[in-house]
Amino acid sequence: MSVLVTGIGELVTNDPTLGDGPLGLLRGAAVVVDNGVVAWVGPAGRAPDADARVDVGGRAVVPGFVDSHAHLVFAGDRAAEFEARMSGARYDGGGIGTTVAATRSASDDELRGRLRALVAEMRAQGTTTVEVKSGYGLSVEDEERCLRLAAEVTPETTFLGAHVVPPEYAATPDEYVSLVTGPMLAACAPHARWIDVFCEPASAHAFDGEQARAVLEAGRAAGLDLRVHANQLSAGPGVRLAVELGAASADHCTHLTAENVDALAGGTTVATLLPGVEFSTRSPYPDARRLLDAGVTVALATDCNPGSCFTTSMSFCIAVAVREMRMTPAEALWAATAGGAVALRRTDVGRLAPGARADLAVLDAPSHLHLAYRPGVPLVRALDLPGVPDPVSPSGGT
Ligand code: NIG
Ligand code: FE
Repeated sequence: MSVLVTGIGELVTNDPTLGDGPLGLLRGAAVVVDNGVVAWVGPAGRAPDADARVDVGGRAVVPGFVDSHAHLVFAGDRAAEFEARMSGARYDGGGIGTTVAATRSASDDELRGRLRALVAEMRAQGTTTVEVKSGYGLSVEDEERCLRLAAEVTPETTFLGAHVVPPEYAATPDEYVSLVTGPMLAACAPHARWIDVFCEPASAHAFDGEQARAVLEAGRAAGLDLRVHANQLSAGPGVRLAVELGAASADHCTHLTAENVDALAGGTTVATLLPGVEFSTRSPYPDARRLLDAGVTVALATDCNPGSCFTTSMSFCIAVAVREMRMTPAEALWAATAGGAVALRRTDVGRLAPGARADLAVLDAPSHLHLAYRPGVPLVRALDLPGVPDPVSPSGGT
């Protein structure tokens, strides 16, 4: 079934061959969607016919957000930890243990319900692709079931057994690394596309460079591609390792050396910035300008998780990146769409051009600038189209 989307006041294609500038902007545009795929993009006056028509009434349309970093399979609540931080406590990843305990004792149905509610919350705010990590099970059985549940809602599933060392291995962290790289990886790899590790020698709970290397190399040998929680709390070895091993993305990049920036600029690893984390942990923001000016590919993601940043809102992250990190509105929108796609090595999302998935997000506003210009206002949602099923609730029940 084909659908003509018309009345698009401003269209962001992210394809410079289709429109102006790096965002490939078109005014007075239309899009034809055929069986869930973009079939035609151009001026409304030249649009071909279709089986159905949807008029968006002069609104702006952008590619659905690609949230390439999220931790959505968990139970429990850490609002009190947030409250303590706002009174001066520091974030060091220690609170992850609280979520692990709650997640282990939750049923599959509870975890599934919470996960689906968060994915629906994202879609209602314009996110159409999301990566989901494990990392709150930290036993073979619990990591396996968290990934099995994640795979019900997205193909972008990430094994994060090396999130922190769980309490039962506190005295023997290397034994835990052996569990992660052995039986846990074997149980989880069938449900995962990616492997990730919290590489952070500055945290007593996370993993140093050698442990992180062992995790990533084992994951690669099991057929998984690599991403890294890197340089969140200190200028540690995470970014260097991510670039050396050809990881798709180094995430956080809050503390970078000049050598780190050069390495990212010379490699293929995307720097995924997570400004909601600095906001919610009251930390200094990463130096996005330095990365962009050096030619590094930058993505923006929420890092939605119950500890360091509990937001599902990509438009919030865009607004913070523009206001606090001196990204231009165009750079921030590109990073939240096309940048996320590069970070997930996807070419079918993050752009609206023939052949891409028909993941359209519509703004109750005339231009994409309003994403940052009107912070905190719920302007953007994924556009439901006739004949295009919602990937999480194909019957349309979210
Ligand atoms: O990306 N730093 C490691 N992991 C998450 C936080 C997880 C948590 O605190 O529950 C992050 O910030
Ligand atoms: Fe994270």
